[in-house]
Amino acid sequence: MIAASPRPVLETRGLVRVLGEGDARNEILHGVDLAIPQGEFCAIMGPSGSGKSTLMYLLGALDRPSGGSVLIDGADTAKLDDDALAAVRNRKIGFIFQFHYLMPEFTALENVMMPLLKGGASSRQARARASALLGDLGLGDKLGRIPGRLSGGEQQRVAIARSLANEPLVILGDEPTGNLDTKNADRVFAVFEQLAREKRQTIVVVTHDPDMAARTDRILRIVDGRIVDDGPTKEVLERMG
Ligand SMILES: Nc1ncnc2c1ncn2[C@@H]1O[C@H](COP(=O)(O)OP(=O)(O)O)[C@@H](O)[C@H]1O
Ligand SMILES: [Mg+2]
Repeated sequence: MIAASPRPVLETRGLVRVLGEGDARNEILHGVDLAIPQGEFCAIMGPSGSGKSTLMYLLGALDRPSGGSVLIDGADTAKLDDDALAAVRNRKIGFIFQFHYLMPEFTALENVMMPLLKGGASSRQARARASALLGDLGLGDKLGRIPGRLSGGEQQRVAIARSLANEPLVILGDEPTGNLDTKNADRVFAVFEQLAREKRQTIVVVTHDPDMAARTDRILRIVDGRIVDDGPTKEVLERMG
């Protein structure tokens, strides 16, 4: 008997993205095929300008393909209208960007509680979950601070906690630890590992740091809008030398 392979949570087929028109027409992605199962922790690596962010936007339903397809939990994003696409994004995707926007007048705890309250949690549940997440990210003693009284790295970790709060099916991070020191980048990656293992959340992060990438299950390397390597982390890192 053949073991049933679980449907990928993220899939692209012949994905093409063209930006600009006329003389400025620029094909950024040239036919990307990938399939990421639930619970996998993946790194995307590649030189600057290779199309990593463009791919992340497409995987997160913030953008649509120019050709080929993107399937998020089985739904083809090209076939969804704007409202349906927004619903997929809101229900299934947690984004972590390098630059984040916390609500300046609210404390760290309140910033993280907000999406939980919006999602229907009671204020007691929201408080418990938000403080646990902030604690895991090394911010247990900063719960009551407003963003203006936190360092850049602390604000980034609050933003990460906020993206994780509602336990999205897919977590997408575009250089999420790019401006954190090693110790705090480690904390963030430890939380990612735990979420992938224990909650079967699917995590895709763009990173330039081989030490961080080494903690993932799989690395996809992109060069000039094409996947040039894709495999178990150890093997890809060895091939990279
Ligand atoms: N709006 C745009 N119009 C034309 N080209 C763009 C646009 N946005 C980005 N690009 C180009 O797309 C390429 C890939 O960009 P990006 O996905 O941001 O790469 P990465 O995240 O790997 O650094 C770059 O060459 C960039 O100049
Ligand atoms: Mg980028």
